[in-house]
This record gives sequence, C-alpha cells and structure tokens, in this order.
Amino acid sequence: MQEELRELAREKNALVIAHNYQRSEVQDAADFTGDSLELSRTAARTGAEIILFCGVHFMAETAHILSPQKKVLLAEIKAGCPMADMITAGDLRRMKAEHPEALVVAYVNTSAAVKAETDICCTSANAATVVANIPADREIIFVPDRNLALYVEKKTGRKLIKWDGFCPTHEYITVETILKTKAERPEALVIAHPECLPEVQDLADALESTSGMIRFAQQSEAKTFIIATEMGLNHRLKKENPDKEFISPTKKAICPNMKMTTLRKAIETLRQERYEIRLDEETRLKALAAVEAMVSYI
Ligand code: 13P
Ligand code: SF4
Repeated sequence: MQEELRELAREKNALVIAHNYQRSEVQDAADFTGDSLELSRTAARTGAEIILFCGVHFMAETAHILSPQKKVLLAEIKAGCPMADMITAGDLRRMKAEHPEALVVAYVNTSAAVKAETDICCTSANAATVVANIPADREIIFVPDRNLALYVEKKTGRKLIKWDGFCPTHEYITVETILKTKAERPEALVIAHPECLPEVQDLADALESTSGMIRFAQQSEAKTFIIATEMGLNHRLKKENPDKEFISPTKKAICPNMKMTTLRKAIETLRQERYEIRLDEETRLKALAAVEAMVSYI
C-alpha cells in the first residue's frame, strides 16, 4: 500500500505530508513528516498541485489559507482536534470586547474562523518567540491552550489573558505516570510537549515541539528518554536514533483523531481527490496575515 500511495502521488504530482503523530506506516509513505510549523512551511513552499495532508483538520486548513491555488486534501475528513473545538470565533470576539487593547495570539490548533479574529498565530515551536516580540506594554490574549499559555508565561515573563482549552491526549500524562516511569528508569531524561500539564512541564528536562523533541534526543548525550507526548512520535525517534531508547509514560497518550488516517484512506482520498479543504475567500483572507506572521517566526 505504501508503494501504491507513492505511485499515485507521482502520477498526480501530489505531495504527501504527515504529522509526527501519524501511524508509522503512513509516516513512512509520506514525502515529508514534521511538526505543525514545518508542515505549514512545507505545504506553502511546494510546487506540487495537490497536497495530501495526513493529520487533522486545522493543519490542512492552514495549508489552504497559505496556498489557495493548491488543492489541499485531508486524508481522513473526520480527523479533527478537540482542543481546536474548545473555542469559537464568538468566544474570542467576547474576549476581545472585554480587552479591546489586547493583541490576539492564537495557537495554530484553532479553526479558520478563530484565526480570522487573530493577530498572530503560533505553534508550540515558536509560541514563546512570538509573544516575546510583542511590545512590553501591550496586553495579550492567548488562546486556546491553557498549558501552552503557562509555558509561554514562564518562558517570557509576560502575563497572558488565557482561554481554558487543553489537549485531552496530553492531559493523560500526569505527574504520577512520569514519576512511576522515572522510578523504573532513573537515568532517563524527560522530554515533554508544552501541551502537557504545568506540573508535568516542571518535571521535564526539556520542553519542545514534536520535531524539537527529535532534535533534542539526537543532540543529547543521554541514551534513554521518557517522551511526554502522543506516542506516534516514538516512531521517528526510534528510526532516527536506533541506539537510544524512548519510553512513553502512559499507553493512554494516543490522539484518536491522528490515528484515523490509514494508508487505505489516504490512497482512496488521493485517488478520488475527495475531502478538499476550502474556505470562503473572506474568512481565508482575514486569517491569512496571522498565519503568514506565524510562518515568518523561527
Ligand atoms: P507540534 O506542532 O509540536 O507538532 O504539535 C502539534 C499538536 O497537535 C500537538 O498535540
Ligand atoms: Fe489536537 Fe491533542 Fe490531537 Fe494534537 S494531540 S491534534 S492537540 S487532540
């Protein structure tokens, strides 16, 4: 099936991109695998006419916002992000009405309608840099992830007006699961995603985006790592560091939406050119500046 997908992608001049949480066999069949920021940049830069996105809805939507002339297909149309669904454009408009002077920073895990109400988007890879570059006297609304917001507050010393969103998958990773794993493997370093609970973040040796976690593991002298994020990341970690060991603190750290994409579905989506992600032009244009700002920050 991997060969079938590759062949079809060649025939159709399509680029297959996959998030780091996708099933191993889907990652291995993709042209590119990466974190949210890398996927947005790769989708924007490609000369391919079709982008087959193996990930969740907001990721394909972001690719369409940046490149409306390309046909962006979401391999599995039902794959959403529960965190992105925790805030609506109406919720954000109400926050803005309460804080009319505030600049709005939205995590890329949001709908296009929310992005259309946003000044600058960010991913976990550049959230702190985005906030650090906002003038010190400016109020900042940060939505929707409360845990990423706390990480940014700690890293930048800025106070944020927060929304109460979270990722259910990352909140399965608790202090108890980390301490239990650490007791079994005291030599292991803990690498956590900033979507983790603040008390889990406090136990981590490093806090990184998914691709940042891979780079950290590669550069570290350590041989054993506790990986506090969705378990799909372990595939690339192991593949790119065969001499190192990666342990998940809990078997519950699985994003059901990310796992909906199978090779069979990806092939069918590309064959039929179904599940195209498009927005009305007004919403797309309103969201564009915020997403362009996001991809310009390292
Ligand atoms: P990254 O941008 O770090 O890959 O994270 C995306 C995501 O959805 C994490 O849950
Ligand atoms: Fe959304 Fe969490 Fe899944 Fe990432 S892991 S796509 S934040 S539900």
